[in-house]
Amino acid sequence: MSQSFRVLTRSFSSSAARQAAIKNVTIIGGGLMGAGIAQVAATTGHNVVIVDTSEDILKKSKASIEKSLQRVAKKKFAENPKDGEAFISDVVGRLSVQTDAWEAVKNADLVTEAIVENLDIKKQLFSQLDKAAPEKTIFTSNTSSIPIKEIAVSTSRLDRFGGLHYFNPVPMMKLLEVIRIPETSDDTFNALLAFGKAMGKVTVNCKDTPGFIVNRLLVPYMMEAVRMVERGDATPRDVDTAMKLGAGYPMGPFELTDYVGLDTCKFILDGWHAKYPDHPLFEPSPLLNKYVAEGKLGNKVGEGFYKSKK
Ligand code: CAA
Ligand code: NAD
Repeated sequence: MSQSFRVLTRSFSSSAARQAAIKNVTIIGGGLMGAGIAQVAATTGHNVVIVDTSEDILKKSKASIEKSLQRVAKKKFAENPKDGEAFISDVVGRLSVQTDAWEAVKNADLVTEAIVENLDIKKQLFSQLDKAAPEKTIFTSNTSSIPIKEIAVSTSRLDRFGGLHYFNPVPMMKLLEVIRIPETSDDTFNALLAFGKAMGKVTVNCKDTPGFIVNRLLVPYMMEAVRMVERGDATPRDVDTAMKLGAGYPMGPFELTDYVGLDTCKFILDGWHAKYPDHPLFEPSPLLNKYVAEGKLGNKVGEGFYKSKK
């Protein structure tokens, strides 16, 4: 009896130790999502390294984090701007940037990948990271549409692999989808749930299916809106007004597509179409393809379906 108690205690404490251990977080990809995830991780007391392919991109990434932190501070410390400044410098002090992913994962408890939505590129990245990161490091992907297992097989740590799917803008959106694959260990899954909580997010679980919960519903909705415009049924502005005022959505589907990035929406749709060629909701969209080919990728470049401030 006392021995089995000891065994239970030991296995509980080793699981608790792993949960407590997520302190150093490496984010690969400092774009729209990576910057947001990094911001929230640093705000919630984690040490964060952001990795991207060039110093110039990392400079933009840091600038976007600082801009967002200023918006947060303006609200949170409305009465005391000095405290707001201290808050920002405290958070920024926990953030660093790197172009060398190999170096950046050497001390990581958790790696979250937020690079381009392309299976081959994600697999190539993770197979390299697998060689560089310590054994304890948990790997996660923020993929919008690719099953986690298809990415995880590029590593030798399936038990320490999972999905953490955040929503844009990460500092504002409360949800985090936490995905486990059959091989994900209970320790890893519990550590990811605890990390989500530490990030201030509400977690939901879903099987490792394309798009998990939110995107499986949201992306077909956005694409149906695009098809409506392709047919000439209504203008983007009228569709957006209708969905905001008639359905209570905070943004219309075209505003949201601009916000997410037209390139990301295209990658998601093309990936699903390749997998399920007969599914009418995943049919490629000529209008979306045309905008992406013209470089109209949405708010991040200043123009998508609408012109916007960058
Ligand atoms: N950083 C910090 N604070 C922010 C912020 C950001 N990026 N965005 C908004 N805020 C805060 C600020 O305090 C802001 O006030 P200020 O403008 O004075 O700074 C306040 O929120 C209000 O913001 P806005 O006036 O810009 O607009 P809003 O009230 O409509 O809120 C929103 C903005 C939260 C983005 C809201 O429009 C919304 O919820 N939109 C829908 C977003 C959504 O559906 N996201 C999911 C996309 S799908 C996805 O992410 C998954 C995928 O895989 C593709
Ligand atoms: P983004 O284009 O804004 O940023 C991607 C970043 O990754 C870029 O800065 C790019 O330079 C960098 N990158 C590409 N390959 C790299 C590599 N090998 N190493 C390091 N950095 C690399 O894209 P995003 O919108 O932030 O999306 C990133 C991921 O998050 C995608 O998988 C996407 O599907 C997912 N996602 C996007 C949203 C959204 O609303 N945009 C929401 C949730 C999840």
